[in-house]
Amino acid sequence: MKLQIKDRKAKLDTTPLLVLLACEGEAPVLPTGVSLPASATADFTGKFRQTRLADPIDGSAERVLLIGLGKRKECNWEHLRRAGALAGKRAEALGMASATVWVSGENDEAGCGADSVGQALAEGLVMGSYRYVECKSKSKKSKLARVMFVGAGATFKKGVLRGEGLGAAANFTRDLQNAPGNIVTPTEMAARARKLTTGNAQLTAKVLDEAAMKKLGMGALLGVSAGSRQPAKLIHLTYKPKTKGRGAKKIAFVGKGLTFDAGGISLKPSAKMDEMKYDMSGGAAVLGVFHALASLGCKHEVHGIVPASENMPDGLATKPGDVHTAMNGKTIEVLNTDAEGRLILADALCYTATKVKPDTVIDLATLTGAVVVALGHELSGMFPSTPELSERLTRAGEATGELVWPLPMLDLHRDQMKSRIADLRNINTPGQGAGSTTGAAFLANFIGEHEWCHLDIAGSAWGGMDRDYAGGALGTGVGVRLLMEYLQQL
Ligand code: BES
Ligand code: ZN
Ligand code: ZN
Repeated sequence: MKLQIKDRKAKLDTTPLLVLLACEGEAPVLPTGVSLPASATADFTGKFRQTRLADPIDGSAERVLLIGLGKRKECNWEHLRRAGALAGKRAEALGMASATVWVSGENDEAGCGADSVGQALAEGLVMGSYRYVECKSKSKKSKLARVMFVGAGATFKKGVLRGEGLGAAANFTRDLQNAPGNIVTPTEMAARARKLTTGNAQLTAKVLDEAAMKKLGMGALLGVSAGSRQPAKLIHLTYKPKTKGRGAKKIAFVGKGLTFDAGGISLKPSAKMDEMKYDMSGGAAVLGVFHALASLGCKHEVHGIVPASENMPDGLATKPGDVHTAMNGKTIEVLNTDAEGRLILADALCYTATKVKPDTVIDLATLTGAVVVALGHELSGMFPSTPELSERLTRAGEATGELVWPLPMLDLHRDQMKSRIADLRNINTPGQGAGSTTGAAFLANFIGEHEWCHLDIAGSAWGGMDRDYAGGALGTGVGVRLLMEYLQQL
């Protein structure tokens, strides 16, 4: 689908479907030359997500679709994203080849400015029209080929372009998530990461193979991959801004790229095991951030580190009780081979701390089932090392709808991860509980003194409620927009 942008001062082009938005209790503002019969607006209240299709009396639109944004006081970016998604979905359902979304000055006010309105609408529309078709031998193509956004000049245009870039990046991440484990292997993740950098001078990719990891002493990561025929990869993407401005920071994002988690020798039950293809969602989000950086840029230097591996049972697989040594020399007793995410992240965090030395590290991982129990599917668990980082990520979460919630991590929890025979163990004593927290407490051993936040996205990566632009069984692309917003606000 192609997005086009036009200034609302220009004459409205003829369109088969004109989409207009209005807040609850407010009459929809119509572009000059378009008028609606009284019956069309009589039963349209502007309630959030209400849609009303109408035949205009005259003007350049064949049909008009009214979409409700809800009460003006409550109209936030999430409402606008969902309105954008609804616009695309209704246009598709009507079999339209093109549509025009016309944004009024009233809409700009309700959504805190033309740029954010443009961004949210475009983001919602692009994400709402996402389909995963890679595995269909024949796929029905959407007829909706073109959507024209009309709004307030250059500011609006900037917003729409940003929304389009972010939406496309989230969809790229969703394609990686939704792909089955036999397509997106660690090798394929590395290939897709490399491809992101082609033709872009600001992006570079480095991929470490198992031999290189062995040289660096990444025994924890290699211990996980030992049970798999698919070789592990450590992907390192770098984005450098064209000019290093004042205040520019070095930020690292680390993502768990477990392309299939069978549990290893501590084998998972069969029910829903297929969902463990999503165990690379953190890594997919990190790659998605670089997809967005390729088109939108940012003023900071950004590093993306993705340890990619499978976790499988095999004759050479790590056995419960085995001890591995991580890159920082700490020894780990592996009591449950299904707690593997923290093992591959341990070495990835050591690598980040010692080779990249960033100002701030944020990792994303589908780390624990426990976070789904605690927070469900609409929020990610957040373990920030500083109040500032907590505040920044909370704000970015509210802006993007990718909500985060702080969970505790105390020295007591770190003590629970000490082993009798090695430095650390990879699970605490069954019955102690606090599964997500102790996962984070384990990771804390590998990041040194860096400002750091662990995000547990096991709930938010897939399986959420229907939010029009995301939700349901498929991957959500969570993390991409959150981290891009974090970078922009930094
Ligand atoms: N990938 C899983 C976590 C997970 C579970 C994500 C369900 C999404 C949905 C992780 O590797 C895992 O298996 N964690 C274990 C840890 C336990 C053995 C301490 C878990 O959560 O059960
Ligand atoms: Zn596991
Ligand atoms: Zn896992």
